[in-house]
Amino acid sequence: KKVVVFISGGGSNMVALAKAAAAPDFPAEIIAVISDKANAGGLDKARALGIAAFSFVRKDFASKEAHEAAITAELDRLQPDIICLAGYMRLLSAAFIQRYEGRILNIHPSLLPLFPGLHTHQRSIDAGMRIAGCTVHFVTEGMDDGPIIAQAAVPIVPGDTAETLAARVLTVEHRTYPMALRLVAEGKVRMEAGRAVGDVTGE
Ligand code: GRF
Repeated sequence: KKVVVFISGGGSNMVALAKAAAAPDFPAEIIAVISDKANAGGLDKARALGIAAFSFVRKDFASKEAHEAAITAELDRLQPDIICLAGYMRLLSAAFIQRYEGRILNIHPSLLPLFPGLHTHQRSIDAGMRIAGCTVHFVTEGMDDGPIIAQAAVPIVPGDTAETLAARVLTVEHRTYPMALRLVAEGKVRMEAGRAVGDVTGE
């Protein structure tokens, strides 16, 4: 299966996916990385891994639609089977999601449905949570609310800051995302009638 990864920043999840996909028995190949930021650190990391990397900077386009049309044109050329959003900080239009529905994955740094949106680690600490974690889900038109494919939890320990918790969650993100992508690429998990069906899993 051909995969395109969307990033906006450092791309550590993209690197984890690329390294997992390099294994000979992995059922997917990362064929390209797309960023909405020209200076995303993940672009150089992708190129260093021999993966084509493209940036589509929003301000270079007259509208959100034109920006997305440029990305869609590139996808029409690449013909990916699966799109993985990994630290991609831009909402995709309903039209885009409908076109790829059931084939777009995202990783979110909380145990959804708790803490959708931003600043998940500080919000978890402020809420007095004792666990945190990450969720890989199919992307639907809502934000951070598609059918869940895989989750992993980590403890929140006394003295944790958003930064120390983020670092702990990232370690399980980098294991959970490749595992979820493998399940989808192998067809063991798919989206059906708005639900994830098959070997959905948790760590
Ligand atoms: C990660 O916490 C991810 O869950 C969120 O963005 C953060 C940075 O991701 N979506 P990355 O290092 O750019 O992959």
